[in-house]
Amino acid sequence: MNQDQLKQMVGVAARDEVLKLPAGQILGVGTGSTANCFIDALAPHKDHFAGTVSSSNATTERLLKHGFKVLDPNDVQGLPAYVDGADEIDPAGHMIKGGGGALTREKIIASMAKQFICICDSSKQVPVLGNFALPVEIIPLAKGVVSRELEKLGGQVSLRLAKSTRADLKQTPSEPFVTDNGGWILDVAGLKIVNPIQMEAQVNQIAGVITVGLFAKEKANILLVSNAAGVERIAL
Ligand code: A5P
Repeated sequence: MNQDQLKQMVGVAARDEVLKLPAGQILGVGTGSTANCFIDALAPHKDHFAGTVSSSNATTERLLKHGFKVLDPNDVQGLPAYVDGADEIDPAGHMIKGGGGALTREKIIASMAKQFICICDSSKQVPVLGNFALPVEIIPLAKGVVSRELEKLGGQVSLRLAKSTRADLKQTPSEPFVTDNGGWILDVAGLKIVNPIQMEAQVNQIAGVITVGLFAKEKANILLVSNAAGVERIAL
């Protein structure tokens, strides 16, 4: 079974999980290739929900294409659940997210939800977070100062660059990747995050940081994880 099939399988399991919620509520929807599988699986059942709240422009576009109603988070009081993928998840449900650059809105929507349902394949499960470089969204003019502070934590910091969209360009793309919020992303490699709650608080305190892609306070409550044998449901 390849990784795409594992993502599709967990997307279907997440669909079944959210269809257990009473009808007529609003659902929080994440970003990324696994979240896309979930959206596609849920599409035929969209009327079970009164609407959705989206964590990125890409997700909004996909939801609208399928005919889901997408609401402004400011018009919503709270959500029964938020469904999203992760780049890494530890045994307690702490996650690294932001590989797709949507970490800020993801964290906002997750904070509105009663339950974070994390969906991934088993390659994302790790004993300790940090093998995946930690994304940190910043205000562009703070790149220098934030990079120096992050280096003090022991990581190697690099500015995320945009992928070139021009096939004829052979050179390495040199423009910064710009988030949906106009921020830039620093990826911090080489961290061993043994205390995610402390690390999240510490990075949040650096002036110029918009969001750290460490979801420790907003950790997963339910993990649906796929492997060749099927999908396991873990309550965290
Ligand atoms: C988006 O910013 C990320 O947080 C994604 O949720 C995460 O990177 C998982 O993405 P995939 O499902 O594509 O691996």
